[in-house]
Amino acid sequence: DKAGHKHFMAKEIAEQPTVIGNALANYLTADGHIALPDPGVDFTAIDRLTLVACGTAYYACLTAKYWFEQIARIPVEVDVASEFRYREPPIPDRTLALFVSQSGETADTLAALRYCEGKAARILSVVNVPESSIARESDLALPIHAGIEVGVASTKAFTCQLTVLLMLALKAASDRGTLSEEALADHVSALRSLPALMTTALEQNKAMQNTARRLSEARDVLFLGRGLMYPLALEGALKLKEISYIHAEAYASGELKHGPIALIDKHVPVVVMAPRDTLFDKTVSNMQEVMARKGKVVLISDAAGLEEANEGVWASICMPTVHNAVAPILYALPAQLLAYHTAVAKGTDVDQPRNLAKSVTVE
Ligand code: F6R
Repeated sequence: DKAGHKHFMAKEIAEQPTVIGNALANYLTADGHIALPDPGVDFTAIDRLTLVACGTAYYACLTAKYWFEQIARIPVEVDVASEFRYREPPIPDRTLALFVSQSGETADTLAALRYCEGKAARILSVVNVPESSIARESDLALPIHAGIEVGVASTKAFTCQLTVLLMLALKAASDRGTLSEEALADHVSALRSLPALMTTALEQNKAMQNTARRLSEARDVLFLGRGLMYPLALEGALKLKEISYIHAEAYASGELKHGPIALIDKHVPVVVMAPRDTLFDKTVSNMQEVMARKGKVVLISDAAGLEEANEGVWASICMPTVHNAVAPILYALPAQLLAYHTAVAKGTDVDQPRNLAKSVTVE
């Protein structure tokens, strides 16, 4: 049932304020602490984290690396499951291995989990299907509470994975004493504000549709972001290519001048994800290098960011102002909607893109 939407993907994008609310309600206590299902995790017994997944779930892991390192001061390694499993990496003592999978049945992710059995101190998973193989074979499975996801391109599962991973990083920080009570409360209130901010962001649908119509003419699209916006740029590019079949790549903004800038000319739209945070000025200077070469910039920022840097851009999308740590969860929405409307403008099969399966149970 598409609940009045044209596609399951549109329905699932629109559901995000609700499902994120559910995910928060399942992990946040009334007094603003994070409660994990039994037997929980004691992060003082953990020295490092290995995060493994495929596709969009892998980008959720890449985002989580920034959170765990910055907030909980734990060294983190992230890998795609198909590489991890055959590389046979050494797993040091006191490593927590964490697997992220919407379906819980992805063959490579399951194989990577089995490789860690008997080696890692604890095996955790973040899943949407609690009775899945990956959930059953973990010491502790954390459900994301996204509800069934039908569209092949993952949307609400991604933002729910991010939300659960951020809460887990906050739990780690509180166990390890790396965050003051005040900073913890600040992060928790930022999380609690997300459903309302997402609703506001979804009201920008028309602006995204207009921009997407112009994007649908492109042959190649680049996505740029720094810090927490870098994994999200990767996710935006994946979403666009898988449903609109437009070639899209993402780069960390700082990498632009190390090669990819050679691609820029007047035909290439460049989507820049840049909330007005401490890295904003750096990203803007990369954006200006793109414009100097006639690249068409789509700037996704907030009111303060657009006021500062909107001049000369090809299109812009205004997001509500948001706490830096939760920005990738909010900025996932324009990434998804741009891809969605571009695909609709091109007339592709949005819910069932060619050559793709919802659950990849063979390698
Ligand atoms: C992209 C997408 C895929 C999945 C990947 C992993 O939109 O949906 O990249 O994220 O196949 O699937 P799960 O999360 O089920 O392990």
